[in-house]
Amino acid sequence: MDKIVVAGGRPLNGEIQTSGAKNAALPILVATLLAPGEHRITNLPNLVDISSTLSLLGRIGCPSLFQAESTRVDTTRIAFSEAPYDVVRKMRASVLVLGPLLARHGACKVSLPGGCAIGVRPIDQHLKGLEALGARFELSGGYINGRADGLRGAEINLDMPTVTGTENILMAATLAEGTSVIHNAAREPEIVDLANFLISLGARIEGAGTSTLTIHGVPRLSPASRPYRVLPDRIEAGTYLCAAAIAGGNVTVTRCEPSTLTAVIDKLREAGCEITVDDDRVTCARTGELRPFHVDTQPHPGFPTDMQAQLMAVACIANGTSTFRENIFENRYMHAAELLRMGARIDVQGRVATVRGVPSLTGASVMASDLRASAALVLSGLAAQGVTQVLRIYHLDRGYEDMTARLRGVGASIARLADDADEQAVQASLRETR
Ligand code: EPZ
Repeated sequence: MDKIVVAGGRPLNGEIQTSGAKNAALPILVATLLAPGEHRITNLPNLVDISSTLSLLGRIGCPSLFQAESTRVDTTRIAFSEAPYDVVRKMRASVLVLGPLLARHGACKVSLPGGCAIGVRPIDQHLKGLEALGARFELSGGYINGRADGLRGAEINLDMPTVTGTENILMAATLAEGTSVIHNAAREPEIVDLANFLISLGARIEGAGTSTLTIHGVPRLSPASRPYRVLPDRIEAGTYLCAAAIAGGNVTVTRCEPSTLTAVIDKLREAGCEITVDDDRVTCARTGELRPFHVDTQPHPGFPTDMQAQLMAVACIANGTSTFRENIFENRYMHAAELLRMGARIDVQGRVATVRGVPSLTGASVMASDLRASAALVLSGLAAQGVTQVLRIYHLDRGYEDMTARLRGVGASIARLADDADEQAVQASLRETR
């Protein structure tokens, strides 16, 4: 396993180019199962979750060739309709194969994902929607066995706007007979990107990006005539804007989609950052002190839960008391305990966290617990006095491509080492970046 070491106290200056959105790429790759043939997808990020999804497609009988600029996936044949426990437990998004396998193949066997660090994360809404379309499920031995002898359009009311739940049902409905309507659908930009991809395969979808999705089923879908380009990753972009906010300096995130970042941009402005927006780039400049703020995580277009940890890192050194309310997941404050080790002053009561800003953090060894918490800890290291070592950064590799190189590219003193590298190796690696 590796760790990231950061020598804090240096402002950042320069440009960081973002990759394609992980949370759009995952459903889009799985959606290729709906349309037999060879698909070409561009701007895929080079992440562990992407390679896990491609290897899952391979186990289903669909070979692929990953190239960041143009990945090919061949879904001509489905030989095996199972997503096994060892895959799903590492990547919950594997449950997205339920909808496409039922729609195309009429059967699937998918391991229940189990919980994860940030919460129980049930999939009852996925199953409710797919059952409304005519699927039948049995649960045995931790696996969901699904069958469907043809899907039929239905009206589905989701209890909450679940992102992957909306995606699973949306994908299945494209091949159902008749029209389906999903009420209380998720509105995330990644849903819009998936809908656009499905439309490129011949699907008929209205209302993407609103809370009511109408899908007119078609008898078949086929690969698009042109490669599909995945939208830029708004969470990666927001994370690097937070890096400038916490370290100070001036960072421009390029090849991003500013319209998907409005809630994060508003919050960083509230915190005292100067944000400028151009067509495909956003600049965050921070020279003065940070002001306290309040974060209430909500489904899109509200403030994204995936940016809560990163903004908490910013709040730790704001001049005043900030408050957070995490409304989406029941256990998404694991980073708070690690930030306390760096001298932050955070009080967590259930879903509410109160952060009293301190003049500066101090470097320490801290443990990553989930993808976004890992990012928050690296950001905190950028502002801390001394050296911070972030352990278990395999979490980070799931959602951030080359974070060390991208931060070093704007002046951070940061390096990636084996987690048993000694003090001498740590200092030597950081000297190289100075
Ligand atoms: C997606 O997870 C994202 N993952 C998450 O990103 C993101 O945090 C989350 O949406 C919220 O925006 C992918 O897109 C691969 P939900 P998802 O279903 O779909 C409850 C990251 O860091 N719920 O919208 O699993 C659930 O417990 C990851 O990139 C049910 O109760 O999230 C949660 O409280 C982390 N029953 C809430 O809804 C269900 O059937 C929202 O979950 C489904 C969800």
